[in-house]
Formats: sequence, structure tokens, C-alpha cells
Amino acid sequence: MKWSDFFTSSVGKKLIMAITGLFLITFLLVHMGVNACIFNDLSFIDPNDNGDMFNRAADFMGKTVLIRIMELVLFLGFFLHIIQGIMLELQNRSRRKLGYEVAMGNKGSKWYSRSMGLLGTILLLFLILHWWHFWIPSRFTHAGLEEPISLSNGRVSHDMFNLMKVTFTEWWVVGVYVVACISLAYHLLHGFQSAFRTFGLSNSRYLALVNSIGFAYSIIVPLIFALMPIAMKLGWVE
Ligand code: HEM
Repeated sequence: MKWSDFFTSSVGKKLIMAITGLFLITFLLVHMGVNACIFNDLSFIDPNDNGDMFNRAADFMGKTVLIRIMELVLFLGFFLHIIQGIMLELQNRSRRKLGYEVAMGNKGSKWYSRSMGLLGTILLLFLILHWWHFWIPSRFTHAGLEEPISLSNGRVSHDMFNLMKVTFTEWWVVGVYVVACISLAYHLLHGFQSAFRTFGLSNSRYLALVNSIGFAYSIIVPLIFALMPIAMKLGWVE
């Protein structure tokens, strides 16, 4: 079998989805951790922080060479995950056209396991809007970031905290982010355990552990993400 045959085979496609999926899960944890610095501004933690902790973290992520290189790997990861996801979805659809003798509904699999393509598409549309809001201004156009700020560590940087505040002044934007986070939760609920099954994990004890970790991750991480636009809009962090 040639390498190219492996990557276009069902097993090869699933393996790429699993590897890139786990990589993206790791990214999400780091991304959530950095962004969660905005909660340092909660009135009962440090009301005089003025976004300094988050801006220092964002400055570190944006200026560190290794992290910038990882950003390229991240985009490759997203690209492969999306392309292979589309191919798997098309393959599954053409198989489903053959139909089953008895419609299984939720007995065969959960609705979100059968809707990974739809959930992934919602996330892709969200990502395009999200990059437009933050990544493109931060790395290229600097729109909304014209006024440099002095950080407590002596560095001068962009005020990403203020950009977040401005972005989340509109309710519809907050709504889109919350819907994306709900889609992310369901996408992860299936994706996490599916990746480990692809890697061949079949021992029922380990599988139960992975499922529990996957369940907790899929709920907690999107919930913390969703609280960010809500906290900004409601003025919990200023
Ligand atoms: C819902 C709350 C979220 C907020 C407030 C948020 C905020 C941000 C900010 C401020 C940046 C720019 C970082 C910089 O350039 O310094 C960024 C970049 C990015 N975000 Fe998010 N994000 C959220 C959720 C997500 C989710 C759910 C995903 C993935 C599904 C995601 C994927 C990305 C990617 C891929 C980048 C560009 C790469 C990077 O700069 O690290 N974000 N986000």
C-alpha cells in the first residue's frame, strides 16, 4: 500500500481526524487558559487590573517565536481536520444513502455523533468571524488597536482586552459566540472519545476514564469560553 493510499483510506482519514482533533483539543485548553486571565478583572479579584493580566498573556503569546511557529502548525492542524472532516462526511452521506432496514434514531448513536459535519460547519463559520474579530487585527491590520498601552511588566503592547470589550458590545455577537460554544461542546462530546477509539483504546476501564475526562472537558471548556463574551457584555469584567 502506498502512503497516499493510506491517507485516502477510511482508516487513514479517521487517524488524521483523531491526531489533529487531539492537537486542537490541546490548543483549546491553552487558548482558554490565556483568555481566562480576563476574569482577573472581576470586582472580587482585582478591579484595578484594567486587563493587564490578559494583555500580558496575549503579548507573550503574540511575541514568542516558538509560539508563532506553533501557530503555523495550528493552522495546518485546522486545515487538515476540516478537509478530512468534509471527506469523511461526504463518504458517510453516500453510505447512508444506501439506508438501513430499520431506522435506529437515537438508539444507534447520539444525534450529535450523527451531526459532526453540521457542528463542524457551524464552528468553521464561527472561526471565520472570530479570526476577523481578533486574529487579523492582532497580527495584521491593528484595527481597533491603534493606541498602544504600557503593561505592568514594562512592555508596550496592543490593548487586546479593550478590543474584546468593544467586540462584545453587541448582543448578536455575544449570541453567535454562545451558540458556537454550545456547538463546540457537542462536537467535543463525540470527538474526544471517538479519537481514543480510533487509537484502538478498547479496554473498558480506560475507556470509562477517557469518557469521563472527555465529558468534563467538553462541558467545562466551552462553558468558560461562553462566559467570556457574557462577562464582557454584562460588565462583570471592565
Ligand atoms: C468564546 C470565547 C473566545 C474568545 C473571547 C476568544 C478570543 C480570542 C482572541 C483575543 C484571539 C487573538 C489572540 C491574539 O492574537 O493575541 C483569538 C485567536 C484565536 N482563537 Fe479564540 N476566543 C474564543 C473562543 C475560541 C474558540 C471556541 C476557538 C476554536 C474553536 C478559537 C480559536 C481561535 C484561533 C484558532 C485563534 C488564532 C490563533 C491564535 O491567535 O492563537 N477561539 N481568540
